[in-house]
Amino acid sequence: MVSKWVGLASLVAVLGTLTRFPPYVVGQTTLNDAWDTTKGLINLLPNSFIIHFDGDPGTDEGQKNAADFFTQLRSLGISYTIGFNYTAIMNAASIKVEDKYVDTMASLSMAQNVWSEYLSSGEKMDNTGVRALPALAPLEHEITGVKKVHGTLKYTGKGVKVGILDSGLDYTHPAFGGCFKTSGCRVQYGYDFVGDSYTGSNAPVPDNDPMDQCNGHGTHVAGTLAGNDGNFRGVAPDATLGIYRVLGCNGLTTSALILQGLELAFKDGMQVINLSLGISGGWGGWDAWAEAGMANIMTQKGVVIVGAAGNDGDSGMFGMSSPAVALGVVAVTAMEMPKFYSLYFNLTLEENVPIRRSDHQAYLPQLSILDKQLRPATNANGDDFGCGSVVDLTGTVGLVKRGSCSFTTKALNLIKAGAIGMVVYNDVAGEPGVLSFDQEISIPAFSITQADGKYVLDEIAKRGEVRVRIKNDLLPFNNTKPYNTPGFTSMGPSPEGQGKPDISAPGVNIYSCLPKKMGSYGTASGSSMASPYVAGVAALLIQAGKTTSTEQFYSALIHTATPQMTGDSYISVAQQGAGLVNAYGAVISDVVFSKRFLLGEFWDNAELYGTSNSHTFRETFSNTGAVSAYYTSSFSFAQSITSFDSNKQLTATPIVGNVRPKVTIWSTSVVTVHPGMSRAININLDHNGLVNGTFFIYSGYVLLTPRSNYKGSAMAIPLAGMAYQSFDAPILPPVSTGLPCLVRYSEGRCLSGTNAFTFKGGDFPTVVFRIQLPLFRLRIRIAKAATPNKIHASVVENHYFKLAKNMPHHKVTYYTYRWDGNVFHSDNPSKIFPISRGEDYVLMMMFYVTNNWNPFIYTTPPITATRV
Ligand SMILES: *[C@@H]1O[C@H](CO)[C@@H](O)[C@H](O)[C@H]1NC(C)=O
Ligand SMILES: *[C@@H]1O[C@H](CO)[C@@H](O)[C@H](O)[C@H]1NC(C)=O
Ligand SMILES: *[C@@H]1O[C@H](CO)[C@@H](O)[C@H](O)[C@H]1NC(C)=O
Ligand SMILES: *[C@@H]1O[C@H](CO)[C@@H](O)[C@H](O)[C@H]1NC(C)=O
Ligand SMILES: *[C@@H]1O[C@H](CO)[C@@H](O)[C@H](O)[C@H]1NC(C)=O
Repeated sequence: MVSKWVGLASLVAVLGTLTRFPPYVVGQTTLNDAWDTTKGLINLLPNSFIIHFDGDPGTDEGQKNAADFFTQLRSLGISYTIGFNYTAIMNAASIKVEDKYVDTMASLSMAQNVWSEYLSSGEKMDNTGVRALPALAPLEHEITGVKKVHGTLKYTGKGVKVGILDSGLDYTHPAFGGCFKTSGCRVQYGYDFVGDSYTGSNAPVPDNDPMDQCNGHGTHVAGTLAGNDGNFRGVAPDATLGIYRVLGCNGLTTSALILQGLELAFKDGMQVINLSLGISGGWGGWDAWAEAGMANIMTQKGVVIVGAAGNDGDSGMFGMSSPAVALGVVAVTAMEMPKFYSLYFNLTLEENVPIRRSDHQAYLPQLSILDKQLRPATNANGDDFGCGSVVDLTGTVGLVKRGSCSFTTKALNLIKAGAIGMVVYNDVAGEPGVLSFDQEISIPAFSITQADGKYVLDEIAKRGEVRVRIKNDLLPFNNTKPYNTPGFTSMGPSPEGQGKPDISAPGVNIYSCLPKKMGSYGTASGSSMASPYVAGVAALLIQAGKTTSTEQFYSALIHTATPQMTGDSYISVAQQGAGLVNAYGAVISDVVFSKRFLLGEFWDNAELYGTSNSHTFRETFSNTGAVSAYYTSSFSFAQSITSFDSNKQLTATPIVGNVRPKVTIWSTSVVTVHPGMSRAININLDHNGLVNGTFFIYSGYVLLTPRSNYKGSAMAIPLAGMAYQSFDAPILPPVSTGLPCLVRYSEGRCLSGTNAFTFKGGDFPTVVFRIQLPLFRLRIRIAKAATPNKIHASVVENHYFKLAKNMPHHKVTYYTYRWDGNVFHSDNPSKIFPISRGEDYVLMMMFYVTNNWNPFIYTTPPITATRV
């Protein structure tokens, strides 16, 4: 899964000129809230960089550039240590050097890019299902066409090499052949770069064996991609696997290790790589593996890279994870399916009525409660919270409502009343969750939904008594929201306005493998579960002979997806991309589109499109097959959505509206493309009349529906655009939030007037700020208070590039910048000195939405150093 880390992106070697503009005015400077200044710190691996040198890896020229770079550093008196030299894909090295030299390094001509290194965290599976669950047939293959590709076309990924960078794999699981690298094994490649105890900050302990028995994430996703165990068959059940373990048991790693993993996967000849790691709120050009980095170079060399969109959907739009956000990477988002497996119990009425339930405590044996009464644990007042003494429950399963007291209290009360089990029904809507206790509880206990609780209580009221049968057993249940994009899955577009995500795949309650020690099988949700599904489909396409380095491959994979609707309108392209993956359509498709996405961002690209409010795009499609293609063409809008309310404040749930341009299509409605021929569709977007001051992303699909005389796949090309200019968008929250503000580090309360700081202990000036959209760059400078618009000097950490926006659902919904009182002048970064005592200074926080737009500037109240 993707990291929940909300820290800082990396640095790129772009140095713009500084423009001075009027300060961004903050009306309210005093808040009652104290900010926890230790939590919101801008966060990256200090003094750690990846340098991308000019020249190809492994060539004399490339090596010379790297050597010259280091010679230059030495001649400037800058000390450094080299961690790892990359020589296969990208001419680069990981190095340790003091942060203050970043601008100097970026200015050296041999450095193409200078990226900061950061910690990245994966996710760990819940270790709750420690009982052996059976190998069941996946429920989604019928809907995605995978079943038909396996059955009718007989493609199973055989002979295709798929690389997985994740937490490793329990290859002793029967779904992976039980062996590693020996003849005939499914897993033929792999390496452990980290070791079990790697935490991201200690020394990695690499070895040859990528076994995972402690984390489980890699095993679950490898199961979806390529598991093969009786009824349980992943998407590409015969693919050859390479397992590159870059996450230890706790799921933390660094950029440098991921690049090592990618490099080995490339050397091993992996054709499809599923990247297990993500950073919330990425930029395409964010880091060493995305746009300008390894992933893109590998894509150009024909390696298909698939990544998860991320699980930050409830933080609003523009929330794609890196590296999925990179253009070359296929970004996959999760979608709900019509059916999923769940644990359950039967209410034995005239017939059995299965009721979904959570798992019970891991330390208890398998559940087997057969034909026992289920009785509400009411008390003398008639409530059923189970918080005090309850009715006699001897030999029965007690039913209680969630709330009022802890689960432990409820369970102890039920045990006292003689119960042999406890069912807690939810008091709010939501999934049945595993109950947690603060001591071991001797009777099995689990939860059910609010609606099921009500149903069971109604049956008891009607009948006087009901009985249950509970085993450790799963059944398929109907989903009430089939084909919806779940709220958790990250939304596009990319910070640069590119069309993302690319495609949707099953990602909610997905049943797949777990390490044997963790129960062998279990369900999980996330875009992590969706991305290996598409990686598997990519493997099927490769076996079917599609060429990966061309648009043919991406058209087959992406444009055959099926756009899904909510009510009677299509779900926004920013949520579902091209739609639900269609493996059968992808394998049989012959039509290739010239562009992956149509983008309506011409307002922001005046240099390309001029300043007109209207622009016509041309999309050509060609037939690479042997028979003529006959289609009907049409255009349909999808929902327009925004994450900003009328106060320009970021909201957790997107707002649906009707803001859209006028769209005109020139094409005959019946389109014929003969083999080897191309046709074009012209699409005009007219932005006249859009409402200024709203921030909607509009979208839609050009749909090609096969006519009855053609057996090809239906195709759709997504279109998306901003109904506003990006520099109008509210990067900072409304003034009513009181942010940004200046605080004392140890206090966290917003200050006004002139404030003295000792720059000792907790007494540092600190700026608390929140950004509502991904930020291209934050520059921090100081000015003298008397001339607040005139830059006086740079602070030591003066450049933050590509910050992720603050995420409402994360605990850290703001950043803090703590100034240590040291400065330098840009013409001499090696000379660091403290500011003068007794003089008044202000910090200038310069927020850049894009590289070339004027910043919003926030200037703090005056700061006086009493002691430095
Ligand atoms: C990495 O390459 C540099 C030259 O670019 C060389 O001086 C150094 O010894 C190499 N380090 C390792 C660990 O291979
Ligand atoms: C595929 O990549 C996504 C993130 O990009 C990750 O969450 C998932 O674990 C990966 N799957 C495998 C099989 O490595
Ligand atoms: C529950 O009922 C279903 C449907 O009748 C049946 O298939 C299943 O075996 C039953 N399970 C238990 C634990 O009795
Ligand atoms: C589940 O959905 C199917 C149709 O897909 C329907 O036939 C069946 O009755 C539904 N089951 C329940 C329990 O609602
Ligand atoms: C939208 O309104 C703002 C403020 O009124 C103005 O500065 C901006 O130019 C307008 N944008 C367009 C595209 O009309």
